[in-house]
Amino acid sequence: MGRYTSRMPSSHDDYPSLRFYDHPLIQQKLTTVRDRNTSHADFRRLLNEIAALMTFGASRHLAVETVKVESPMEPTTGVRLAQPVTLVPILRAGLGMTEGILDLIPEARVAHVGVYRDEESLHPVSYYSKFPDDIADGHVFVVDPMLATGGSASFAISELKDQGCRDITMICLVAAPAGVERLYRDHPEVAVHTASLDRELSGVGYILPGLGDAGDRIFGTQ
Ligand code: PRP
Ligand code: URA
Repeated sequence: MGRYTSRMPSSHDDYPSLRFYDHPLIQQKLTTVRDRNTSHADFRRLLNEIAALMTFGASRHLAVETVKVESPMEPTTGVRLAQPVTLVPILRAGLGMTEGILDLIPEARVAHVGVYRDEESLHPVSYYSKFPDDIADGHVFVVDPMLATGGSASFAISELKDQGCRDITMICLVAAPAGVERLYRDHPEVAVHTASLDRELSGVGYILPGLGDAGDRIFGTQ
């Protein structure tokens, strides 16, 4: 029997930008997500549940402002988020975590970056993007379950910087060391929140031990 003892999210000695979530409920859900026998329905549900749990930690630094409120007993003060929040799922698989994050931040806007990896070169191929005009005014969460080579996420973050965004956080489920290193090289100020730092990439760019093709498992396309 072991216990997870660290504060959530915790930092990593070797990867300055990494924040990870060694919480028993997250790790138990991740174990079922990895299981090749888990159904598409359970895979989707668990991905969203983990995303919501991680959002609790990833949103802890969002700015708030004071507001007045009247309880049934007397006027008092409370807080609300001071700036808009925009989620940017990387299509397709990022959509599989978006509902879970919206459960915690229902007022968030959802922008999209459409990019897939070329199977041979593993380079990102862009096919779509749609952002609110004022996306740079608030915090942006880039969402994708898989950070493998880091090419897709780095491309998406560069597009966001072109829009003027400076306050960006990446939320993924599983990260490979190569992807974390690539993002740190390209975008050192972007914190990478992940439920797991996995061992390595396979010869064809899949995360090991990983969970297979996230998009196919979310959408049942395999
Ligand atoms: C997967 C995943 C990431 C990307 C990660 O998408 O969802 O976007 O690969 O790999 P990288 O870090 O090496 O760029 P995929 O290209 O399979 O597209 P899909 O989500 O449409 O299935
Ligand atoms: N994309 C996936 O869906 N899975 C991996 O392991 C790597 C990239």
